[in-house]
Amino acid sequence: MKIALFAGDGIGPEIMEQARRVLDALNLPGIVVWEGDVGGAAYRRHGHPLPEETLQMARAADAILFGAVGDPECDNLERHLRPEQAILGLRSNLDLFANLRPATMYPGLEDMSALRPEIARQIDVLIVRELNGDVYFGEKAMRKLEDGRRQGYDFMSYAEDEVRRIAHVAFRAAQGRAEKGTGGKLCSVDKANVLETSQLWRDVVIETAAEYPEVELSHMYVDNAAMQLVKDPGQFDVVVTGNLFGDILSDQASMCVGSIGLLASAALGERQTEFGTFGLYEPIHGSAPDIAGKGLANPMAMILSLAMMLRHSLGREADADRIEAAVAKALQDGVLGGDLGGDAGTVEIGDAVLARL
Ligand code: NAD
Ligand code: IPM
Ligand code: MN
Repeated sequence: MKIALFAGDGIGPEIMEQARRVLDALNLPGIVVWEGDVGGAAYRRHGHPLPEETLQMARAADAILFGAVGDPECDNLERHLRPEQAILGLRSNLDLFANLRPATMYPGLEDMSALRPEIARQIDVLIVRELNGDVYFGEKAMRKLEDGRRQGYDFMSYAEDEVRRIAHVAFRAAQGRAEKGTGGKLCSVDKANVLETSQLWRDVVIETAAEYPEVELSHMYVDNAAMQLVKDPGQFDVVVTGNLFGDILSDQASMCVGSIGLLASAALGERQTEFGTFGLYEPIHGSAPDIAGKGLANPMAMILSLAMMLRHSLGREADADRIEAAVAKALQDGVLGGDLGGDAGTVEIGDAVLARL
């Protein structure tokens, strides 16, 4: 099992170190671990946020564990050289179009949610975010109009096959949850009342639904979805949405749970390896420059991303369960980082998870 670790910038290396300790503790047979440069760190060393050798390493691996990229000192570079291009480039070059972002309440954490505990307790949602299309990857420009005014330009589009493949991922997820008795509903979130991109999205999701009669499909406009997510998160089971809306709604969902430092994600495509589905795993949060280097970052989202990697890419379901249980137990025992109103530091949280593994 070949695993590539890309720690990146800011808190990336700090949280990756804790995930690495957990990975090492599992003592997996036949495991090979590589480390590669991404983001601002890679730009400084190689002149590019996603060097060719990193991309080669990613292609050769069975799974990738990714920390975070983003560096305020790089914010004025030409866009193709900015740290964020590393994650966007990995997602697009490796055809990782399906982003799974689960948000579930942990026992004992209800009081830490930004919502009232009785509302927060209900949250158990899987956001399925399309990751390789939308306004993210359309033609873009910063240009001058004929009259000399500056204009920023980003082209938003979805082609039907792009919508269909993510719809299938979401329907299958809802179907799986129906079989487990933990769900079976799919809510497609769009802005079809205004955007043609969204009208096509909705049409294709409805067409795809014919293949999944056991899944209860609904549609919601994104503005309402943002409101409903804090009003009554328990109404959602699986949510499927486009790249931009999914980015925003998943950060919002994290605060229903309690902190962005808890939410993990998987970016999957269609390629199968010997052990499972090839994928990239990362926290949904960024490099958190405001707390970087201080030992304050919560590494749980990173550690939970490792668990998702073990489950989806490496066929190690039992190890994934163990890690998730250890994190849940640490939270229940009151091991809380500053993001959750506690005072446990990055290493201390890593220690606590390891002790409960
Ligand atoms: P962010 O997610 O980095 O931080 C937002 C807030 O959440 C900050 O106050 C931060 O301290 C806090 N936070 C985030 N993760 C935390 C953790 N694990 N523990 C405790 N607190 C945590 O978002 P931002 O500030 O908008 O972006 C910072 C940089 O990260 C930018 O350059 C952005 O482009 C980049 N970014 C990268 C990714 C990625 O690598 N996938 C994701 C999001 C943002
Ligand atoms: C995320 C991030 C990225 C995104 C950025 C850093 C490109 O916000 O992974 O959620 O917008 O997809
Ligand atoms: Mn984001």
